[in-house]
Amino acid sequence: MKPKILVTREVFDEVLDYLTRYFDVTSNQSDIPFDPSTLTEQLADKEGALITLSDRIHADLLARCPNLKAVCNIAVGFNNIDLEACTQARVMATNTPGVLDDTTGDFTWALILATARRLSEAEAYLRAGQWDGWKLKQFLGLDVHHATLGILGLGRIGQVVARRAIGFQMEVIYHDVRQATQEVEETCRARYVSKDELLQRADVVTIHVPYSAATHHLIGENELKRMKPTAVLINASRGGIVDDSALIEALRSGIIAGAGLDVFENEPLFNPGFLELKNVVLAPHIASSSRNTRYRMAMLAAENLVAALTTGKPPNLLNPF
Ligand code: GLV
Repeated sequence: MKPKILVTREVFDEVLDYLTRYFDVTSNQSDIPFDPSTLTEQLADKEGALITLSDRIHADLLARCPNLKAVCNIAVGFNNIDLEACTQARVMATNTPGVLDDTTGDFTWALILATARRLSEAEAYLRAGQWDGWKLKQFLGLDVHHATLGILGLGRIGQVVARRAIGFQMEVIYHDVRQATQEVEETCRARYVSKDELLQRADVVTIHVPYSAATHHLIGENELKRMKPTAVLINASRGGIVDDSALIEALRSGIIAGAGLDVFENEPLFNPGFLELKNVVLAPHIASSSRNTRYRMAMLAAENLVAALTTGKPPNLLNPF
């Protein structure tokens, strides 16, 4: 008998076909996220699951799923999974690193340019029929070329963002918990500075750190006050790293000039204060969403699940076994 697995959200047909070769698959192709108790019920008799960042895996759920051996996230971020609880329950957890770096880096640049050049605001103005002709001082924005880019977190995605900045002839500074190797710094043409210096000097601050207790509200009222009033903040990493209420206040009162956001606290129920602001570019967590990349993410998660339940050695294992 094939092991039973659950696919919690809609995936590509090819991914389901691949999984069906190995497993007895139950899948939620209606794509309405399971509420926590339905997720627990659905997982109760399963050995594995292909999950997404809206599925929370925690100790209570694991205690009710005695057959579970692997949960494979279709995401690089894994703050939806309690890794310690998984390790204690002998459940392998995996993510999808690498395959989304370039696509997420591209989208970060879409946010940087749209925010600095006030694209959403200008488009809304045009769509509302307010455009009555060219004006010298219309939608004056921030020059991105030759500006200073401050990257918080020079991991894989931060490095992609830095390398693209070379074409814009920017000065790139970064801060991270550890200084990068000389080789990475040279390829990225990035210079290590303190968080404080980065906030004070950067024209564009972009965040590329994982969410954890240590990075919760990494950018709050104090940090925003250190930034230049002409600067913009970009977040395509995770909600919760920025204190959204503090950011709304900073955008409202001109503490900073703008923000480009793909992620929010309490997604998808984000703070409605953002909708009242013109100086923010908003996206619904789509930074990795190109067809190729989302396909590769789903397939990599599926490959992790097959490896976990057949060899016990998934390529992207997150917890010790
Ligand atoms: C998307 O947010 C991811 O973590 O892959």
